[in-house]
Amino acid sequence: MTGSASALETLTHIPLAPFGRVVEAPEGATIDDLPVAALARWTEESRVLVLRGFTPMEKERFADYCRQWGEVLRWDAGEVIDLVVQDDPKNYVFSSGDVPFHWDGAFVEANPRFFVFQCLDAAPDAGGETVFCDTTAVYRDAEPELRELWSRVTMTYTTEKLAHYGGRVTEKLLSQHPGTGLPVLRYAEPLDPAVYKNPVYVAVDGVEAERADDFLAALSERLHRPEYCYAHAWQAGDLVIADNYALLHGRNAFTGPTTRHLQRVQII
Ligand SMILES: [Fe+2]
Repeated sequence: MTGSASALETLTHIPLAPFGRVVEAPEGATIDDLPVAALARWTEESRVLVLRGFTPMEKERFADYCRQWGEVLRWDAGEVIDLVVQDDPKNYVFSSGDVPFHWDGAFVEANPRFFVFQCLDAAPDAGGETVFCDTTAVYRDAEPELRELWSRVTMTYTTEKLAHYGGRVTEKLLSQHPGTGLPVLRYAEPLDPAVYKNPVYVAVDGVEAERADDFLAALSERLHRPEYCYAHAWQAGDLVIADNYALLHGRNAFTGPTTRHLQRVQII
C-alpha cells in the first residue's frame, strides 16, 4: 500500500446530494500521498468520489497510478481514453449530444470495478454533466413485486463496433455488487437509430413481448428520478473515481462550449 495517514488529515470532506463526496486537498497535493485503501473505501461508501486540489497527471503516470487500484483495462486506443468532443464523431460518446444511461464494459469481457476520470479542461456552465444513478438505492426503494420481476429479466444488447467497443451481449438485469453484496441493476438504455450515430438495441427476456416497451420506459423513468441521480459539473483538475457496479452513468448534452477534455481509465 502507498500513501500516508498524515496526508488524510489535511483533507476536507463535503457530501454531495443525493450521494457522492468531494474530498478537497490543499492546492498542489499529490494523489500518491493518499492510501488507495482509504480512497477505495470512500468510493464504495459514497459511489462517486470527487478529488480536488490534486496536480493532474501525465497520461502514462495516470495509467500507472490506476494500476495501484487493480488491473487496468486496455482498449485498442490504449489504457487512457481521451474523451473530447469531435467534429464528425463515429460514436455518440464523442458527440456533443446526450449519452443515455449505461454501465461501462457491457461489450467487453471484463466488468470494470471502478472508473477514474481526470479533467484537464472544462468550460463553466457548458452542460455536459456526467449523470450517475445509484441503482442500489433504486433497488432498495422498489416494491417487492417489482424486485421479483427484475430478478427474472435478462437483456440482450446489440450494437455495431464503431468506436472502441461493440458486439452482442446478454446480461441479467439484477446483479450483485462484488464488494458490498448489495443488489445492483445493470442496464443500458436503448439508443434510437434516428437519434444516435451508433444505435444500441435492447431485447427483453422475462417480460411478455407486448409489455416490453412499457417495462423499459418505466425502468428508465425510475432510474432518472432526481432522488437517485447525481449530476457532476466538471471543473478542470477534478479527479473522479466512480463505482461502476453500484452506478449507471450517462451524460447531459452540452449547451455551451465543448472544449472539455476528460481522460478515463477503467479498473477491473
Ligand atoms: Fe461510460
